[in-house]
Amino acid sequence: MKRLAAAILIFDVVMGLLILCVYENKQVGNWVNEEQNGPGTQGAQTAVSKDIRQADGGNVDSTEEKKIALTFDDGPHPSYTEQLLDGLKERGVHATFFVTGEHAKLHPDIIKRMQEEGHLIGNHTYSHIQLRKNNRDQFREELILTNKVITEITGEEVQYVRPPYGTWDKKFETELNMFPVLWTIDPLDWCSSNADCIAGKVVEKAQENDIILMHDYYESSVEAALEVVDELQAKGYTFVTVEEILFD
Ligand code: NI
Repeated sequence: MKRLAAAILIFDVVMGLLILCVYENKQVGNWVNEEQNGPGTQGAQTAVSKDIRQADGGNVDSTEEKKIALTFDDGPHPSYTEQLLDGLKERGVHATFFVTGEHAKLHPDIIKRMQEEGHLIGNHTYSHIQLRKNNRDQFREELILTNKVITEITGEEVQYVRPPYGTWDKKFETELNMFPVLWTIDPLDWCSSNADCIAGKVVEKAQENDIILMHDYYESSVEAALEVVDELQAKGYTFVTVEEILFD
């Protein structure tokens, strides 16, 4: 009986070890799988979204230029916008400016310069009003008034609007024949005075056909925008107006 008991005990111990071994292997296996699945899955998603972007842009030929758009809201500012325009000119970059009617009226010379240097000018309402349920008529009036201010300076019709805070009513598109332009990268440049930090956020996220939201109303934003241009041009990007991203 003692031998039998000893044999059973040994058998149990061996089985126990075997089970433990298999279990641990499985644990390690799972852990590795999770590790591999994590970034792997993300990679696949990124690849898919890149394909969609390329399909959207109608550009699947990798030898063609990679387009990206810089947009600037809230200006023109009497000194920072001119500073920005100088920097963009030096670098051969065309951008899109969504100006308020109020600021455009104060600085028509800067609006004229934007047009002459090949930038696209859009509407950002007259007083930077946010569309709400109870102010639709006022918002609409501000869009119309701002179009009038810009057209008086440039002689051209305004087709694009960036609604402040991104709130929009699709009915305006047919009512006013205006097209809203939102964004895909927002570095929140207005809440930081560190140009390198703002530029870093943009460069890190940038992909083909992105629309970058910045403001020409702060010195650090202007510095950051020019840094972004230098870094992304070095990576092979071409800066275009939003029109070229949306309709080419
Ligand atoms: Ni704004």
